[in-house]
Amino acid sequence: MTEFGVIGADRPLVLVGGGRMGSALLSGWLARGLASQAVVVADPDPEAAARLAEQAPGVRVVSAVDDMVVRPSVVVLAVKPQMMDGVMPAVAVHSDALFLSIAAGKTLAYFAQALGKDAAVVRAMPNTPAAIGRGMTVCVANAQVADGQRRLCTALLGAVGEVAWVDAEKLMDAVTAVSGSGPAYVFYLIECLEAAAHAVGLPAELAATLARRTVAGAGALVEASEDEAPATLRRNVTSPNGTTEAALNVLMAENGLAPLMRHAVEAAMRRSRELSS
Ligand SMILES: NC(=O)c1ccc[n+]([C@@H]2O[C@H](COP(=O)([O-])OP(=O)(O)OC[C@H]3O[C@@H](n4cnc5c(N)ncnc54)[C@H](OP(=O)(O)O)[C@@H]3O)[C@@H](O)[C@H]2O)c1
Repeated sequence: MTEFGVIGADRPLVLVGGGRMGSALLSGWLARGLASQAVVVADPDPEAAARLAEQAPGVRVVSAVDDMVVRPSVVVLAVKPQMMDGVMPAVAVHSDALFLSIAAGKTLAYFAQALGKDAAVVRAMPNTPAAIGRGMTVCVANAQVADGQRRLCTALLGAVGEVAWVDAEKLMDAVTAVSGSGPAYVFYLIECLEAAAHAVGLPAELAATLARRTVAGAGALVEASEDEAPATLRRNVTSPNGTTEAALNVLMAENGLAPLMRHAVEAAMRRSRELSS
């Protein structure tokens, strides 16, 4: 038996939405030993269906949830939030399944309304590095979710990176603002470093390479140095009165990066609250 426990050909996992995030998850599950016969994917997009058939031979792909004649053990909801209303009636009939949603802003209360208050629902927020198995996903469960079902969700989402749980759903807005939207902040940091490199005279191609490799290399170093706080790594490369310190004096000034980052995260959190339903 794999870490995916109850999921099997007789009680399959149904993945609703085989887009970017759905197909990244599917690749992770199959790589970790989930049998292709134990998965059914529903996606109306013929291009997505063709891509999935190639990516995951043996996995059944249907164009609509209504087309399945199966009794799922788990239903993974990976459609855009605005598509969720359209999916609910067809999945609500599988009331004894575990529902795992990765849709931004769709609350546990929304699912209780749509699926019935007895449905076991986990709401998760992954992020885009999941596409290469390096994601960070945070989950919250409703009261109907049993311990074994939590472990199953940890295994399913762990197939594309790290998994953490929170008890209070209201923290999901902060999670969205930090790890959900966060990769874009880092991409923008690369853009800014590249623009600054160009502005101080480096040729465009070299400026782009230096910015990209510096952020990627620093990220890898942080990951390889689990026991060292990022602040320690920073101090290690900052000689008194040296070049790094000169730049950090600007970045760490009273109106420098820290308050800017805080404003950015607060703005994302407010928007996450507004978009939640
Ligand atoms: N990508 C990320 O980094 C990220 C991060 C955190 C959370 N999420 C969440 O993950 C979810 C999926 O995002 P994504 O980036 O993977 O989106 P995506 O690439 O657009 O994938 C969604 C897929 O679902 C399909 N779909 C639409 N309606 C459907 C239906 N009724 N039944 C079955 N399938 C249907 C879409 O087909 P069509 O193209 O034909 O509409 C598309 O192939 C979203 O709710 C998003 O909030 C994504």
